[in-house]
Amino acid sequence: MSSVEKAGLEQWRKELVPQVRGSVLEVGAGTGANLLYYPKKVIQLVLSEPDAGMRKQMKAKIANGNFGQVIVSSGTAEKIEAKDASFDFVVSSLVFCSVPSLDTALLEVKRVLKKGGRFIFLEHVAAEKGSERRRWQNRINPLWRKIAGNCHLNRDTEKAILEAGFTISEVRHEHLHTIMPVVKPTIRGVAVKP
Ligand SMILES: C[S@@+](CC[C@H](N)C(=O)[O-])C[C@H]1O[C@@H](n2cnc3c(N)ncnc32)[C@H](O)[C@@H]1O
Repeated sequence: MSSVEKAGLEQWRKELVPQVRGSVLEVGAGTGANLLYYPKKVIQLVLSEPDAGMRKQMKAKIANGNFGQVIVSSGTAEKIEAKDASFDFVVSSLVFCSVPSLDTALLEVKRVLKKGGRFIFLEHVAAEKGSERRRWQNRINPLWRKIAGNCHLNRDTEKAILEAGFTISEVRHEHLHTIMPVVKPTIRGVAVKP
């Protein structure tokens, strides 16, 4: 992914992540690619990642950096180990394509957010219905899921965020550069728990 990071993903992380504050949960935090962009005003940072190999790389980054108190958890987005209304912000980047149940995971995110709390998302999503790209996404999806860790090419994550009961306060529709055409487009933005 390094060419994709350099071609713009890194910049998107820099624009999205620093707006968080207070108590923050990142789901599917991977190897900690967002770690560098968390601001000092974060009081509590919980990074959850179910994959042990990724957690190991993340922990090495935490040990070698100056990040204040960070809690690492093995929880999934569908079963977040936290009480209701625990967090001011939940962050996800390139995670909701892979979760087994998109709807369950979004309801969990909403559950653990405080009233008025914000969900910061950056996700690749389905192309426009009826487009040639969408047809290819639908065709390739069964095989892609098998080789790419259950990643779905054709999820309408923006619609699912709304159906989970969030209000979307900002969203940008773009494309990751240098990535395979079937992994376009992306959405990034902020959803609010009413
Ligand atoms: C493409 S990686 C993105 C990693 C990181 N968020 C980033 O931006 O670099 C997808 C991540 O989602 C995680 N993941 C897969 N299924 C998950 C689930 N059910 N709940 C939470 N995270 C999950 C994977 O282990 C992996 O770390």
